[in-house]
Amino acid sequence: MKLGVCYYPEHWPEEIWADDAARMKALGLTTVRIGEFAWSRIEPEPGRFEWEWLDRAVDTLSGAGMQIIMGTPTATPPKWLIDAYPDVLAKDAHGRVRNFGSRRHYSFSSTTYRRESARIVEAMAQRYGLHPGIVMWQTDNEYGCHDTVESNDDDARAGFRVWLKERYGDVGSLNTAWGTVFWSQEYRSFDEIDPPLATVTEPTPAHVMDWRRFSSDQVAVYNQMQVDVLRQNIGAVDTTHNFMGHFTEFDHYPVAAQVNVSTWDSYPLGFLEMAWWDDQTKLNHMRTGHPDFAAFHHDLYRGMARAGRFGVMEQQPGPVNWAGFNPAPLDGMVRLWSLEAVAHGAELVSYFRWRQAPFAQEQMHAGLNRPDNVADQAYHEAAQVAEDLAALGDIGNAEQADIALVYDYEAHWAHEIQPQSRNFRHDRLTFSFYSALRRLGVNVDVISQHHALDGYKLVLVPSSPMISESFVERAKKSDAHIVAGPRTGSRTENFAIPEALAPGPLQTLMGIKVALAESLRAGAEHAPSGGDDIIWREFIETDLTPLEVSSDGNGTVWQNADLTYLSAWPTEETLIGLVSDLYDGTPIVSKPIEGGLRIRRRGGYIYCLNYGPEAADLDSVLDGSLAGRYVLGSSLLKAGELAVLTAK
Ligand code: GAL
Repeated sequence: MKLGVCYYPEHWPEEIWADDAARMKALGLTTVRIGEFAWSRIEPEPGRFEWEWLDRAVDTLSGAGMQIIMGTPTATPPKWLIDAYPDVLAKDAHGRVRNFGSRRHYSFSSTTYRRESARIVEAMAQRYGLHPGIVMWQTDNEYGCHDTVESNDDDARAGFRVWLKERYGDVGSLNTAWGTVFWSQEYRSFDEIDPPLATVTEPTPAHVMDWRRFSSDQVAVYNQMQVDVLRQNIGAVDTTHNFMGHFTEFDHYPVAAQVNVSTWDSYPLGFLEMAWWDDQTKLNHMRTGHPDFAAFHHDLYRGMARAGRFGVMEQQPGPVNWAGFNPAPLDGMVRLWSLEAVAHGAELVSYFRWRQAPFAQEQMHAGLNRPDNVADQAYHEAAQVAEDLAALGDIGNAEQADIALVYDYEAHWAHEIQPQSRNFRHDRLTFSFYSALRRLGVNVDVISQHHALDGYKLVLVPSSPMISESFVERAKKSDAHIVAGPRTGSRTENFAIPEALAPGPLQTLMGIKVALAESLRAGAEHAPSGGDDIIWREFIETDLTPLEVSSDGNGTVWQNADLTYLSAWPTEETLIGLVSDLYDGTPIVSKPIEGGLRIRRRGGYIYCLNYGPEAADLDSVLDGSLAGRYVLGSSLLKAGELAVLTAK
């Protein structure tokens, strides 16, 4: 387990680098990420490289004992490159150029940019690949940030046509698959097909799905190119990419499979502000972040990572600059967020950034140090985390959980493409499943539907319209009981209703058929277990008797030995009840948690973290037969406090 920091030597006078490096080391940090936005300093003119400053920065940092994570600088192509090759720039839905002047100004499909990126990555790999101080390479920075996955430029349009031809072979098959006869959308050749952008009203859903798949594939192709160049020049070297929180525009699973370590950038307060929670929840957690948000992403990125190797590349240290409101964290939260990552199996927590920059876009973004170089709150908390890790000693590995939650990017896209309700949000539903599990104190793995199911006792699928037959086959062979939420199995791969109707392939596990689905305004129908309103429900044709019914007698939960199907939007209470009945593993809690306390087990330790707003008493929550000795903290936790105990 390493602690690290993000650092930009090019932003600071060279005279202070050595002091910075020495202070990083003294603080207990071991890694430092550099380089990811430095292209204009590395190659100030086409083909003229200025390596010396970066050589000295690398030597200074590694000389002080810091291990370097080197970022490839491709998120910020310099001005001369854009002027020489304007086709690098992405275009918006209307075909208007997205200009130079900030960052991420390129199209993933641009053949010119792929060539230029390979060139700069190769130059860096040749210069630094064998430097003993460099332990890992980060490709680019936050793929897709600032809405940059899709681009309506010429290379993307041409690439999309080739991609479609490879997928469908002949245009007749495409017309059938997409259902283009509807509204006279039929194509005579692949050359006639444009991206489904800026249309008068809703474009053909299968067309949009394929465009999103294509755009997502472009990210993977681009990343693979960088990884290949690094490996060809350096050999077996650790690579990573820093993914984001709550980012769904491209399928992360294939990209994660290309790199050795999946890392992500965790900004709990910024994300809370930008997410779907109501104002009261946002007020309750404005200084702590939502209790399940970072945790979900740790589980997601660990689940997709090769050999489970994951970490946090950027950890929020104080107020950020980019959300609607940017409060300061409650004292203790930087420490708590760091220990949450540890509890989930992270191998790295790296703080963003070493020192607040007094200039440019992020001057209102805190760092470990203030612009005047005085240590800020997060600096002291990072030091505390280093001490905590020393006190914990051997933290053990993150083992496979008993329970898996299925999360697929295509599922998210399907819900966005045809929501059928203003309130049906895939992320919101996924989180209510996840929060229910967290309130039961169980460990969760987040996996894709293509993942092996062996070893799981319970597999929850909040809502995956395009569930595959192969998933159902694997489910049958495994011992897992499947819980599937509404709309699962409601679409084919080509975005059509399955011949046998929903829930499609799940019908081989249970004899049910969705005869009709409706979406409801909040307040129209209540769940029998209380809590949320039913905002979605399906009318089921079957001989089975429902396990639960809504107030008007319509079945909402159906169950047999293999499957539980939820034909209505479930409340968190319904989910807690179901999982408690179905799960026969050892719970850490004696009753479902109320409030912001969260608990996770890793190795021999139980981590208890209070996201508030109320204080929590662990004696009344933890199962006494499991809780051992306190290594950190005690049984009474105020908001923002944590405790770590040995597990008996
Ligand atoms: C991340 C990004 C960093 C920095 C940070 C500010 O999204 O990777 O470069 O901008 O946000 O919070």
